[in-house]
Amino acid sequence: MIIEPRMRGFICLTSHPDGCEQNVKNQIEYIKSKGTIAGAKKVLVIGASTGFGLASRITSAFGSNAATIGVFFEKPAAEGKTASPGWYNSAAFEKEAHKAGLYAKSINGDAFSKEVKQQTLELIKKDLGQVDLVVYSLASPVRQHPETGVLHRSTLKPIGGVYSNKTVDFHSGKVSEISIQPCEGDDIENTVAVMGGEDWSMWIEALKAENLLAEGAMTVAYSYIGPSLTEAVYRKGTIGRAKDHLEATAFTIADSLKDINGKAFVSVNKALVTQASSAIPVIPLYISLLYKIMKEKGIHEGCIEQIQRLYSERLYNNDGIATDDKGRIRVDDWEMREDVQELVAKLWPEATTENLSEIGDLAGYRHDFYNLFGFEFDGVDYKAEANELVNVPSIV
Ligand code: NAI
Ligand code: NA
Repeated sequence: MIIEPRMRGFICLTSHPDGCEQNVKNQIEYIKSKGTIAGAKKVLVIGASTGFGLASRITSAFGSNAATIGVFFEKPAAEGKTASPGWYNSAAFEKEAHKAGLYAKSINGDAFSKEVKQQTLELIKKDLGQVDLVVYSLASPVRQHPETGVLHRSTLKPIGGVYSNKTVDFHSGKVSEISIQPCEGDDIENTVAVMGGEDWSMWIEALKAENLLAEGAMTVAYSYIGPSLTEAVYRKGTIGRAKDHLEATAFTIADSLKDINGKAFVSVNKALVTQASSAIPVIPLYISLLYKIMKEKGIHEGCIEQIQRLYSERLYNNDGIATDDKGRIRVDDWEMREDVQELVAKLWPEATTENLSEIGDLAGYRHDFYNLFGFEFDGVDYKAEANELVNVPSIV
């Protein structure tokens, strides 16, 4: 069928298999162009189908010739209905990995559940024996707790007071004032339950209990900090509490891995357009200004550039792993550079509907958003019939 983007609010209801394939191929080419990384050879990526997790899987496979198992939660296609983009990304990834002679298998299901953990452990036991890197890159609005059965929902709210600031509807380009009501009730606990570190530590405990982590194995999860502009709704809001918890969990996991000389880190990454970040008020306006500034300075990165730098200059750098005073790896260092943040702060009060496409990179934002769903890639004929019924070859 001929597939066009169909938008509803901040989401796109369709995705393009050939465009998603092009996206994966472009990322693979980038990694190959940067040369070999002396990284892990057997890698488990939890949240492997889009964003930073997909970039991690690609970097391991095509930067270090690693065997990869990817866990994700995506929707397969049905006749006349496209799959979710992460499904097509994973299909394309496996196809390219297999062509290159690399082991790649995937598990589609709820990573928070006992069943999916058990399936993954069995697959590792059967095929890989052990893994030496576990990337934890889940982003989800809900988590059903495996012990209590409670369905937790995360929120993106300020704590303690109303937060008012500017935002942009990136589709229309309209800049407006918004106010977000503070969290209430169990919002903080629920957000920590979904996006905090409990599930990450459950994964590592389960792997370790079955002796599936190799001597010296490493695990990394992703976090975000951002500027003071977004602090009230991000780092000091409900999601920030979850990130605090995730970052603290890195230390408890590191302790639990001492006997196998294992390591656990959180890497603080840069703000990027993903399905998750598009839904957070204020962030799209911040990203529009940030992109423009970072592109002008020649320091703009997408997920794949971020993860390539994380692996080659942090995780697998022979001089040891540099961290900040809270033990976190920082690849948001260029975003947080003083000259960059000074410019964002200067432009922020000036931004209006009329001038945003000039002082900010609204076009770049939109383009990246379309790219998430496989649209607007060079080399793809969007007028041609596409086969929506693409399968992931080695789905377990
Ligand atoms: P994303 O939405 O692109 O990827 C989320 C992944 O999790 C997908 O592979 C999805 O299939 C999987 N997933 C979601 N729920 C699942 C479930 N129940 N079971 C199995 N898989 C599930 O998100 P993104 O942006 O790559 O986020 C990954 C991490 O990076 C998050 O912790 C996020 O906070 C962090 N981060 C994101 C930044 C951004 O600007 N987007 C900046 C810095 C950190
Ligand atoms: Na991800």
